Amino acid sequence: MRETTTLDRLIGEIDGGLRAAFGPPPSGTRPSPAREIEAPGLDEAERRLTAGLMRVNHAGEVCAQALYAGQAATARSSEVRGQMAEAAHEEEDHLAWCAERLEELGSRPSLLNPLWYVGSFSIGAAAGFAGDPWSLGFVEATERQVEAHLEEHLDRLPLQDRRSRAIIAQMKEDEARHAQMALDSGATILPAPVQRLMSLSAGIMKAVAFRGFRFQVSGFRFQKRLRGSGFRGIWRSRMHGADKSDALHAGR
Ligand SMILES: [Fe+2]
Ligand SMILES: [Fe+2]
Repeated sequence: MRETTTLDRLIGEIDGGLRAAFGPPPSGTRPSPAREIEAPGLDEAERRLTAGLMRVNHAGEVCAQALYAGQAATARSSEVRGQMAEAAHEEEDHLAWCAERLEELGSRPSLLNPLWYVGSFSIGAAAGFAGDPWSLGFVEATERQVEAHLEEHLDRLPLQDRRSRAIIAQMKEDEARHAQMALDSGATILPAPVQRLMSLSAGIMKAVAFRGFRFQVSGFRFQKRLRGSGFRGIWRSRMHGADKSDALHAGR
């Protein structure tokens, strides 16, 4: 039987990624940490804040899937490839838990998830091409940054929302383990400027996924324009303003 090449793996991972980005959310293998916690009473402002934070986390998990998939496809050693695949499997749980919580909150994932996926996959593949120690260093830095950002979300989430908090707390624990796994496997610590660049690009994704944008042309929502005029609507639309709900579903 023919051995699989890097190109084979890239195609396989892209196929899996397209399913993750466009298909139904994965079911996950571990039950949600929120499953036995009573639904909290949230007012509208709290619900919108929580939905925004959970949408950011969901988009982050889409990115994590993509990064690991890109890195697994280009990893040099089968051992590192296996570790990337195993971590990606845990990220599927995170994705499923965030999707479930978003639905409970009457919201939904970022419509830009396919874009986040493609960008992150490319970065992951490039990190893998740089060699396993650098790729593992990238995992370590990413997971540490995610851990810190989840801690920040725990500070911002309404105290009574124990359902969201349980999910974030478990994710934070898993991300710390992924970072440690990378270190134990021989990660090279990335230079500080690279880490700052990673933090900056993650910040852009977080801001866009949280706030979303509403487009308006002469009183018509961008969505209506897009339906009526195809992609010309994008260029003719002007950005009307930021909304705490995501693009194209303002008001949810
Ligand atoms: Fe995760
Ligand atoms: Fe992780």
